[in-house]
Amino acid sequence: MNDLIEKVAQFIHQKFKDNEGSHDWYHIERVWKLAKLIQQSEGGDLLVIELAALLHDVSDHKYNGGDWNKGSQLTKEILLNFNAPSELAGKVEKAVSQVSYKGARVADSSDSLEARIVQDADRLDAIGAIGIARAFAFGGSKNRPLYVPDLNPVLHQSADEYKNSVSHTVNHFYEKLFLLKDRMHTVTAKNMAIDRHSFMEKFLNEFYNEWNLDRVK
Ligand code: ADP
Ligand code: NI
Repeated sequence: MNDLIEKVAQFIHQKFKDNEGSHDWYHIERVWKLAKLIQQSEGGDLLVIELAALLHDVSDHKYNGGDWNKGSQLTKEILLNFNAPSELAGKVEKAVSQVSYKGARVADSSDSLEARIVQDADRLDAIGAIGIARAFAFGGSKNRPLYVPDLNPVLHQSADEYKNSVSHTVNHFYEKLFLLKDRMHTVTAKNMAIDRHSFMEKFLNEFYNEWNLDRVK
């Protein structure tokens, strides 16, 4: 393994290992693996992709008091501290600044193949069985209800509106998770998203059936 990647992976492992399950080291490791897998068929600079995957949540707005820019600033500092060339640090910084989802009606800004691949990898880990588990883990960590029948989802118009929203976890499926299939950039990720998406639909169908006692005999 590249020396810089190994150092960054060790640093991130140490920083994330005790986080709650939706954003722990295993999330980072899965995104790292997914990004490498996507790169195999889509191309792109592997070093930038691996570093951006490892660093993409290093200071997440959801955990840092709402600062969207801190993650990319910290990314650059960390890489320069590990003696990465400044051109490389700049590329990874830019990719990291573009990964996060900012709301249903907010367009993605990822303008490089590397940023798009890491964004796709992060989004694949947000859907399917793992996505379901992560959403309820996150909701639980914020003390949110699983579901509140009369509280409808909102398709947020701005990043701030999205960031400040507080709802039950089932709404998160409509505000983000079900939208991700059509917001994948690469063909590889689009294909991988299909089964994960339909699994979430089945899950919520069953959830509503049980909630509404639809099949009581
Ligand atoms: P992003 O930077 O795009 O938000 P992350 O990897 O940081 O991506 O984490 C997003 C994940 O955090 C979601 O896919 C979900 O699992 C969890 N999450 C974020 N907001 C909520 C929410 N309001 N309700 C439930 N889960 C949430
Ligand atoms: Ni992430």
